[in-house]
Amino acid sequence: MKQRIKHLFLNNKFLNSCYTLFHHNKIHSGILLRSSAVLKNNKIFQIKNCKKNSVLIGFNSHIQNTIIVFHGNDNQITIGDNVSLINATIKIFDDKNIIRIGNNTKMSNAISIYSLEGHSIIIGTDCLFGEKIEIRNSDSHSIINSKGIRLNPANDVVIGNHVWVGRGCLILKGTNIGNNCVVGANSILTKNYNEGSLLVGSPAKCSNQNINWDINRI
Ligand SMILES: CC(C)(COP(=O)(O)OP(=O)(O)OC[C@H]1O[C@@H](n2cnc3c(N)ncnc32)[C@H](O)[C@@H]1OP(=O)(O)O)[C@@H](O)C(=O)NCCC(=O)NCCS
Repeated sequence: MKQRIKHLFLNNKFLNSCYTLFHHNKIHSGILLRSSAVLKNNKIFQIKNCKKNSVLIGFNSHIQNTIIVFHGNDNQITIGDNVSLINATIKIFDDKNIIRIGNNTKMSNAISIYSLEGHSIIIGTDCLFGEKIEIRNSDSHSIINSKGIRLNPANDVVIGNHVWVGRGCLILKGTNIGNNCVVGANSILTKNYNEGSLLVGSPAKCSNQNINWDINRI
């Protein structure tokens, strides 16, 4: 069975850390690239002296022109089956971050995902993302009060199953989007949003409830 599985690696650059990546993946060889993932023109690397970073990619996924950079240790990216990720940028800073992209999720073009401070970004199954979307779980810099206490801690991002995110959205730290939601173009999200909501605007507000969507133009 294993022998029948095809791995397509075309013009990928596993820079610097790539040895570490492969070394790590060998440990999980049954999971890593357990399918015919198509990897084309990607750059996957880590900054010098970083270690134990992993990228696990599922069955039939298509990853192309994507840059993944690790600036830290023990970080994990898991991409499910039938995922499409084209022209994406994934940047990880600090240690023990987790990024997961569920089965059948499609990210069309120029998606940026930033995970920092040991937090996670979990994206469900069957999601659809338009172009030029940014997802981040930290502001990257600190806002502090007069006592020196930080006011803007990093927080996990969770995007449920079957969520459609329109073009140009910004999904910020602490966002939690329920299943079957639709997010209108150019919206900015920062909060918890109930399942089956139509979310629009900046900041996003629920403009309809108990909705669903279909990838087909029915
Ligand atoms: C949200 C969207 C899907 C429309 O859904 P809809 O059910 O037809 O919603 P409506 O057009 O009736 O709009 C509902 C309300 O949200 C507002 N609204 C719609 N889209 C909005 C947006 N992107 N930002 C802010 N407000 C928006 C409407 O003005 C309306 O406001 P009102 O209730 O005060 O009149 C659509 O406007 C959108 O953003 N499409 C972009 C899809 C996309 O990016 N596709 C790329 C391929 S993945």
